[in-house]
Amino acid sequence: MIDLSVKIGELELKTPIVLASGTCGYGIELKGITDFGAVGAITIKGVSLTPKEGNPPPRIFETPCGVLNRIGLENPGIEKVLELMPEMRKPGVPLIANLHAETVDDFKKLAALCMDFDAIELNLSCPNVKEGGIVWGKDPSLAGRVTGEVRKVTKKTLIVKLTPNTDRLEDVALACEEAGADALSLVNTYQGMEIDLDTWEAWRGGLSGPAIRPLALFAVRRVYEKVKIPLIGMGGIKDENDAIKFFLAGASAIGLGSIMLRDPEAPRRVLSGIIKYLKERNLHGIKDIKGRLRWKD
Ligand SMILES: Cc1cc2nc3c(=O)[nH]c(=O)nc-3n(C[C@H](O)[C@H](O)[C@H](O)COP(=O)(O)O)c2cc1C
Repeated sequence: MIDLSVKIGELELKTPIVLASGTCGYGIELKGITDFGAVGAITIKGVSLTPKEGNPPPRIFETPCGVLNRIGLENPGIEKVLELMPEMRKPGVPLIANLHAETVDDFKKLAALCMDFDAIELNLSCPNVKEGGIVWGKDPSLAGRVTGEVRKVTKKTLIVKLTPNTDRLEDVALACEEAGADALSLVNTYQGMEIDLDTWEAWRGGLSGPAIRPLALFAVRRVYEKVKIPLIGMGGIKDENDAIKFFLAGASAIGLGSIMLRDPEAPRRVLSGIIKYLKERNLHGIKDIKGRLRWKD
């Protein structure tokens, strides 16, 4: 008997497959397409206190083996998102609110408004405007402070989403754990750019998809070796083989991101593949493979 359930803080996931923020809307958009029976949790598109228009087009560029996006965190604001709650509840899957803010106070206000969600995920890839615009997740003390302050205002499962765009990833992870995070999710997108050959215009954006998979896998392993709290690993996962690599690296659950844009049926496909892999090896669950890789160098 294979047990695929996972506990992330107080959150009980029926499967270890989490839909990553920004790639599954509010879940509502996937009705009739995605088999929610295969989904452990839905992370909604990032939301802020007040509405954000985001960037003008172009917003998405195709790259070899990935996508570069510069959506600019467009969202209608928390009030409007809360109005969608009855619709968002229909799939019967736990809901994670992905939050972004420019000040600690705004993060706290947002978290306090998310009582109807099952968990909160802090997106630390955005800038802290009061302190010179440095990205929260690049600095261990900033990341620890915002996590600790949000911890004070909510008893909900608190997940902190890490940016890979720092050379202090492990220290940031540890600071968040010490400040009370129940789990970490990683990685968010890697910074990149694209250039138009006719106009020579250039855009900065976040790279995701298979191109980042080895980088993300390594990030997950490095953090796994540093902290004790569960990790939701993501970055370029397109099939069960990729997913299993993240479990072997130390993830307790995995996130499906960019693949959802191309194949919204991915959750069932990936879940069936994971079950097959475990069965063929007489293994009983994710716990039998979690973190079990062996370094060859
Ligand atoms: C179009 C798009 C929008 C995204 N929006 C968010 C967001 O609002 N909040 C967030 O934390 N991550 C956001 N992400 C990052 C993804 O959740 C995920 O961490 C990243 O894409 C890596 O996973 P992947 O390679 O499987 O896509 C977004 C990614 C994409 C492609």
